[in-house]
Amino acid sequence: MGYAPQARIDHAALGHNLKRAKAAAKDRKVWAVIKADGYGHGMLRVAPTLAQADGLAVARLGEAMALRSAVITQPILVLGGCYSEAEYKQAAEARLEIVLHHISQLKILEKTGLKRQSLKLWIKLDTGMHRLGFTAQEIGAVVTALQANPAVAGINLMTHLANADDRNDPATGAQCSLFESLDLSCFNACSIANSAGLLGHPGSLMDWVRPGIMLYGVSPFIDSTAGDEDLLPVMTLQSRVIAVKHCQAGERVGYGGTFTCPTAMPLAVIAIGYGDGYPRHAPAGTPVLVSGKRLPLIGRVSMDMICVDARDLPSVKVGDRAVLWGRGLPVEEIAAAAGTIAYELLCGVKRRVEFVDINIDADEVG
Ligand SMILES: Cc1ncc(COP(=O)(O)O)c(C=O)c1O
Repeated sequence: MGYAPQARIDHAALGHNLKRAKAAAKDRKVWAVIKADGYGHGMLRVAPTLAQADGLAVARLGEAMALRSAVITQPILVLGGCYSEAEYKQAAEARLEIVLHHISQLKILEKTGLKRQSLKLWIKLDTGMHRLGFTAQEIGAVVTALQANPAVAGINLMTHLANADDRNDPATGAQCSLFESLDLSCFNACSIANSAGLLGHPGSLMDWVRPGIMLYGVSPFIDSTAGDEDLLPVMTLQSRVIAVKHCQAGERVGYGGTFTCPTAMPLAVIAIGYGDGYPRHAPAGTPVLVSGKRLPLIGRVSMDMICVDARDLPSVKVGDRAVLWGRGLPVEEIAAAAGTIAYELLCGVKRRVEFVDINIDADEVG
């Protein structure tokens, strides 16, 4: 590689995490969630590795159409649903399954002249997140309307968990209880669980589970990292040292001079910055793995580079490998340091970073 940053996407790890999801799901079916460009890993890059999932779930119609254009034939669920007659027609032609979360979507569907039995629908029930979905009281009327619509090939029910990342939060049990209080006999299939539901709340499994973040090797819980959950990181974001400097005590480093050298010290400059998706708000002390050694970030994150304190690695030299997150350095840890979540860091990696497909045997990965 040159000295430009790389996001190395480990397909063996992705396969391992899918197996882990399928094992936890037991005999339930799995929608592998690959919205937002496969959580930043590249949707079309990860989709073929997820061929053993029962289906793929995306947020928007355009994402689903991109999968169909890439000749992905699995069932595809569009979590955000359709917003025009043209979108419903496209969805039916592409054999997509569509979420219905708002009365306006139902009205458009009723106006759309679709062929008989051309659309499988998932009604979204709001069980307490108060974002998308019908109330429990509205579901009966929505079901009646869909049953009267010849275009509808199947009616399913789903909801989304708001607090499952905290295993002890009673809100998850309350959401599941509300879901199960409905008459579920009129639905072909039901779905509640995201990754945290799948791994932490057996009562949320139903017929289909919808794991996202765990597939990419990130713990869905606030109190654990991937290793604790037998998940392997899929993305390793890495770069190289492009300069080594020897500063004197009192010299200040980077924009704003926010770090002052307490003593004469070496520092390493690494080619990664917020222009690549490394979080600008990562504070001094955020770890970077340089040649396998954890070194603390110093000074402000720039667009194209960061600096680390290299006193613990006097042998550091230009060209040394630096891991920002991934194998050996959990992205959860970097997210916590930067005051964000792993989802945002992974989704935020910019396309000027070179994406490289790799396959590390799961047995090798510590
Ligand atoms: C409706 C829905 N289901 C499932 C998921 C997957 O969630 P997670 O990535 O936490 O597993 C998401 C992600 O936001 C979602 O919006």
